[in-house]
Amino acid sequence: MPAGRRVAPSILSADFARLGEQVDEVLAAGARVIHVDVMDGDFVPPITIGPIIAGAIADRIHEAGGIVDCHLMIERPEAQVAEFARAGADSITVHAEATPHLNRVVHAIHEAGCNAGVAVNPGTPVAALDAIAADCELLLCMSVNPGWGGQAFIPGSLAKLQALRDLAPAAVVEVDGGIDPGTGPDAAGAGTDWFVAGSAIFGKPDPAAAYAEIAAAVGAE
Ligand code: DX5
Ligand code: ZN
Repeated sequence: MPAGRRVAPSILSADFARLGEQVDEVLAAGARVIHVDVMDGDFVPPITIGPIIAGAIADRIHEAGGIVDCHLMIERPEAQVAEFARAGADSITVHAEATPHLNRVVHAIHEAGCNAGVAVNPGTPVAALDAIAADCELLLCMSVNPGWGGQAFIPGSLAKLQALRDLAPAAVVEVDGGIDPGTGPDAAGAGTDWFVAGSAIFGKPDPAAAYAEIAAAVGAE
């Protein structure tokens, strides 16, 4: 896992007709965590992408020294772990709300050779992770309701980020939703390590410049 603060561009807001080029643009700008948002039309209403797309961009990310950070917004994620690992995922994050078998799925992610993350929705307290946090390399705080890019950052997320930081000092704390040069510094102040940004990067005319602006704002490498 890349150390230090990192901005993780989310390909959800990329131009999928030229996805490879868009990923190359942010890798060239210094991004080393590429965030892949997987949605199943069940846990969240939209259907987005699956292991085929993750696999299609994995080689270029790995060749640049980056990682494929897969965020599974899907019900019963335990059924999909092996496919994402095969596709080249380096970290696989599942939602605490999506399975009664959080411990089993976290260990399945490890057995598949990946780093394990668990995410909580805005309406789920950090305490939902008390029993699993020590087994995770990554804890993700949704700072919008999952399903769509371009939503406004929920301010109550800052206290949850701080609580995650305190809960697991050795884990990567990742924030996801509504991050831009304005909200990113507040999240940084709450102890966040990784800052997912979709529309604030790929929704801009120059994704590389937008990446650099957010990275500078949060003090990322
Ligand atoms: C939302 C996804 C996010 C999304 C963030 O459900 O998990 O990763 O891409 O988009 P922005 O940065 O536009 O809020
Ligand atoms: Zn995400």
